[in-house]
Amino acid sequence: MSKKASIGVTGLAVMGRNLARNLARHGHTVALHNRSEERTRSLVEQFGDEGDFIPAYSAQEFVDALERPRQIVIMVKAGGPTDAVIEEFAPLLEPGDVIVDAGNAHFADTRRREKALRERGLHFVGTGVSGGEEGALNGPSIMPGGSKESYESLGPLFEDISAKVDGEPCCTHIGADGAGHFVKMVHNGIEYADMQLIAESFDLLRGAAGYAPAEIADVFRTWNTGRLDSYLIEITADVLKHVDAATGKPFVDVVEDAAEQKGTGRWTVQIGLDLGVPISGIAEAVFARSLSGSKPLRSAAQGLGGPSRAPLTGAALETFADDVEQALYASKVVAYAQGFNQIQAGASEYGWDIDLGRVASIWRGGCIIRAKFLNDITAAYADEPGLPTLLTSGGFRKAVEDAQDSWRSVVSTAVKLGIPTPGFSTALAYYDGLRADRLPAALVQGQRDYFGAHTYRRVDREGSFHTAWATEDRTESPS
Ligand SMILES: NC(=O)c1ccc[n+]([C@@H]2O[C@H](COP(=O)([O-])OP(=O)(O)OC[C@H]3O[C@@H](n4cnc5c(N)ncnc54)[C@H](OP(=O)(O)O)[C@@H]3O)[C@@H](O)[C@H]2O)c1
Repeated sequence: MSKKASIGVTGLAVMGRNLARNLARHGHTVALHNRSEERTRSLVEQFGDEGDFIPAYSAQEFVDALERPRQIVIMVKAGGPTDAVIEEFAPLLEPGDVIVDAGNAHFADTRRREKALRERGLHFVGTGVSGGEEGALNGPSIMPGGSKESYESLGPLFEDISAKVDGEPCCTHIGADGAGHFVKMVHNGIEYADMQLIAESFDLLRGAAGYAPAEIADVFRTWNTGRLDSYLIEITADVLKHVDAATGKPFVDVVEDAAEQKGTGRWTVQIGLDLGVPISGIAEAVFARSLSGSKPLRSAAQGLGGPSRAPLTGAALETFADDVEQALYASKVVAYAQGFNQIQAGASEYGWDIDLGRVASIWRGGCIIRAKFLNDITAAYADEPGLPTLLTSGGFRKAVEDAQDSWRSVVSTAVKLGIPTPGFSTALAYYDGLRADRLPAALVQGQRDYFGAHTYRRVDREGSFHTAWATEDRTESPS
């Protein structure tokens, strides 16, 4: 009997091809399949010597090449194509076989697919994969959902090919059905927020302190040796140092300032709204991209009045880069705190048992938001598993309190000079909102009761109340 594959990959565009090569390089025999045969052939031709591949040119051939229980990784365009591929393979599989969707699916689709396939006796594992094509080849961060049982066979393979940090694999079973894709979605939302905060830091250093892009690159390189040490800071320094060959200008000045998006940031915000979780840092980052891309609106607004932009001088200039570092750090803590609260809320809504410290730990390698900082998040949840927000954990609390004078000063400088800092500003507003003893929400409740008889609760008595606002004496009654 010919040798069988321990896993198969269908969908051999850039991600699937690299994931298949990564598996083969780790000694696993990999069955290969793609809708159009050319991709399968070219993978074997170019990289066949990297390991054991079994190319298959029909769905049946692919399924027959796999040892049982069969494990099929689907890596195709998310949405309809994923459903089409599932329907192609599911009828050929037997109870206990595992279908993995490693594409960027919406977690609600993953929940739907998992339920439907479970009823057919199959395991469906929606898996978040982060790290782009480079990660897929050399070690991504992997976030599998689905049943615990499926992780028993799949987990060792995925842990094997994932990134490693301090010897630990950047892969863990996240939780049932759509938990993996949910966590990947929030990862991407946090990535949006992190990128926006870094971009605002650049804008401030240039607009308020007059630094050139190459000088700002040096500032980021210095920051990358401290608590902000991360992949995103590292690549930002490289991008800022880069000079456009055609014009001799800084690369950042020849790129159109309209940030694009593929949709996972938008999903994160939509789900944040559905769950009632204030993820304002992520939302502002998504909106900032939308604003940047609103070219007609921006053209119409050119010339609207603003303050004069006299750059900083003297002591304010001297400390500004350090102040921005503090503001960036504090705002970043807020963005991550909000993202982890969203995961908590998703877990409680959908009944997932998610280990938040472990999530932080598998994001330390392979993925776009990999950073030293994530160690501190893991430690925070280890110290206090029921932590309500990262902001109240010992280390973060002190660091943010220590940063707040600089943070406030940077935000007020931005406001005075008319430099837009939606990320920094919303993070600070969230921090102040969260720590406030009383919020003006009491007045909002009064307004709601006034126009809509929506009732309110009192601070001194149980129950709901309504005031008869239209009457002379405005009597209050329980409702
Ligand atoms: N690119 C990244 O950095 C990245 C990172 C993480 C996750 N992802 C996710 O990974 C998945 C794959 O990404 P990708 O960039 O490698 O590829 P992609 O461009 O999203 O998709 C191309 C692949 O999908 C197949 N396909 C499309 N429609 C199909 C259908 N109706 N039936 C069967 N196969 C179909 C294509 O087959 P043909 O060759 O026959 O056209 C090809 O193999 C996506 O869900 C993506 O969102 C991507």
